[in-house]
Amino acid sequence: MRQILVTSALPYANGHIHLGHLVEYIQTDIWVRFQRLVGNRCVFVCADDTHGTAISIRAKQEGRSEEAVIADMKAAHERDFAGFSVSFDNYGSTNSPSNRALCNELWQKIRAAGLVVEKSVTQLFDPVAKQFLADRYVRGNCPKCGAPDQYGDSCDKCGAAYSPTDLTNPVSALSGATPELQSSPHWFINTEQMHDFLATWTRSGALHEDVANWLAGAFLAEPLRDWDVSRPAPYFGFEIPDAPGNYWYVWFDAPIGYMASTKDWCDRVGEKFDDWWRSDQTEIHHFIGKDITYFHTLFWPVMLKAAGFTLPKAVHIHGFLTVNGEKMSKSKGTFIRAATYLQSGLDPHYLRYFYASKLTPKLDNLDLGLEDFVAKVNGDLVGKVVNLASRTAKFVRETGLAAVYPDDGGLFAEAAAEGTAIAEAYEACDYNQAMRRIMALADRANKFVDERAPWTLKKDPSKAAELQQVCTVALNLFRQLVVYLAPVMPRLAEQTGELLSSPIGSWNETQQPLVGTAVNEYKHLLSRVDMKQVEAMVEASRESAPSNEPAASTPAAGGAGTWNDDRSALDAEPLVADRITIDQFTAVDLRVARVIEAKEVPEAKKLLQLTLLLGGDEKRNVFAGIKAAYKPEDLVGRLVVMVANLEPRQMKFGLSEGMVTAAGPGGPEVFLLGVDSGAKPGQRVH
Ligand code: MSP
Ligand code: ZN
Repeated sequence: MRQILVTSALPYANGHIHLGHLVEYIQTDIWVRFQRLVGNRCVFVCADDTHGTAISIRAKQEGRSEEAVIADMKAAHERDFAGFSVSFDNYGSTNSPSNRALCNELWQKIRAAGLVVEKSVTQLFDPVAKQFLADRYVRGNCPKCGAPDQYGDSCDKCGAAYSPTDLTNPVSALSGATPELQSSPHWFINTEQMHDFLATWTRSGALHEDVANWLAGAFLAEPLRDWDVSRPAPYFGFEIPDAPGNYWYVWFDAPIGYMASTKDWCDRVGEKFDDWWRSDQTEIHHFIGKDITYFHTLFWPVMLKAAGFTLPKAVHIHGFLTVNGEKMSKSKGTFIRAATYLQSGLDPHYLRYFYASKLTPKLDNLDLGLEDFVAKVNGDLVGKVVNLASRTAKFVRETGLAAVYPDDGGLFAEAAAEGTAIAEAYEACDYNQAMRRIMALADRANKFVDERAPWTLKKDPSKAAELQQVCTVALNLFRQLVVYLAPVMPRLAEQTGELLSSPIGSWNETQQPLVGTAVNEYKHLLSRVDMKQVEAMVEASRESAPSNEPAASTPAAGGAGTWNDDRSALDAEPLVADRITIDQFTAVDLRVARVIEAKEVPEAKKLLQLTLLLGGDEKRNVFAGIKAAYKPEDLVGRLVVMVANLEPRQMKFGLSEGMVTAAGPGGPEVFLLGVDSGAKPGQRVH
């Protein structure tokens, strides 16, 4: 059994949690839940990051104390995290007595190690606001690459770190005044003394190779600069005991907050702090976004090393969220707060699954395509996973699961054998791969159910035993998938435990089928997502967007993408050899159309009747074989691609005047072709 301490970055107390932040907290929580499920001891701590100039400015704007602002924000953050099933063992605050004590301790040790130097600093001073300007409150041109409108501490464009006085053409963000230069003493950490240590540590396996390479090129190739860790008053933070009138810079006390939160947890549950932060028995894993890489991979290891604490075993770094392929935007309504999502009625676990399906160990940005989100949740979770139980559980309500696990042609055993690869993917933060493997198993299970058609067996009383066997297999394959998905979908795991009268508590439950248990009444597990709910959430975000929060930034991607698409779809429908001319292609008049009406055709098992609008009052009536995959109400409002010049066909139910385009083998696996938002009905597809 491993002993693991896990952290997510401490969110700033000056703003609400949004869907971008959640990439990180969900990614971390999935890893934590996976570790617990396989039987490791895993403690997950976090806290609010409360200090610094931004909080003071917000407090001033709101006419309240900093303490009042951070108390409210902490409550809001904790509510949001709980809403998304993020399972912290402790959620602390950097403005806590334990953090102050630990800051003192580290400071003394870093001083004793000879790393602290005092130097006079000429800093930018705002003559109107009468205070020194924190790095984030000066904007100007990057001294390295010249990019305009950069913050005073680092450049979004080239990643360079520097001090605000290095900026060219600086402007105060507080008053708009041109800052003046003034001198005061500052305390620095001389990281260069730790250069060799960093060169080794960054290659110790703690970091993704891309990150180690970036650090080697961007920082370690030159002597490291001293790191300025103090700020003169006024500053909201902890006063440095041996430098009265000066405060630790927020990035000094923030990572120490990881320790303080651990300390608070230890005190609460009776654990020893040293077992977690001064022990080679404990693995420390940090999860962060790529924008804060150098704080965690240069300064933080230096602080820990100098003060004699355990070094991180790994720093897992993720990319940034984009929505519909773009930076989150308040005007577009894609800057979505966690609370707005929760209020929209969308199941928070859907977002967990969607993020899981996109996350890899790489630093690539991750896109929340809203249509993709709807399609993935409906297609995978509802169409492939829950579908297994909803089609079978009711048939064994009276009998329960068979007492002996029937012959299933090796399906359960094969899926059990996949457990190793799925576990390895979780461990490596390659959730994308884990989800693909799980969904491939779901496809096989669905094929079994389709072939053995329990709903047909049900009609023949002489087939009662076979019906029980088929459902026992289906429900076991379902349960196995649910265990594999449990780190991502903890609620579904609970519900499944209730359904099959056997709680899910361990990864090993994927290895043995469940037999002889009672099957309880099937309660709806997950419902399909309606694009309308998503659209309403976007609308709500557009309205509620406050103007005083900094826009989320999207740093440049850090490496090429990896995709794990196999050939199975291609092999099922091999590429056709016959070439066509462009004229043959343009003979097909493909058009963007909006579904303005959709209804079931009662007499037809597979068909939906759609009214497609091409613009104005140009409409087409189309019958589409997509009933197993889409609910009519989910389609209304959607843009699709139709074949507009198909010869009309008289059908039993009416005239079909075209065809909607879709991919997939059929049945519940039909995926309508859409177009990116912004397209207009009537536009031709070229
Ligand atoms: N307070 C610092 C972290 C201190 S850790 C000792 C901070 N806070 S933050 O609120 O801005 O961000 C918290 C975490 O969320 C960071 O790891 C950051 O990278 C991540 N994200 C914030 N916006 C994000 C996106 N749009 N997309 C993905 N992750 C994002 O940084
Ligand atoms: Zn730059």
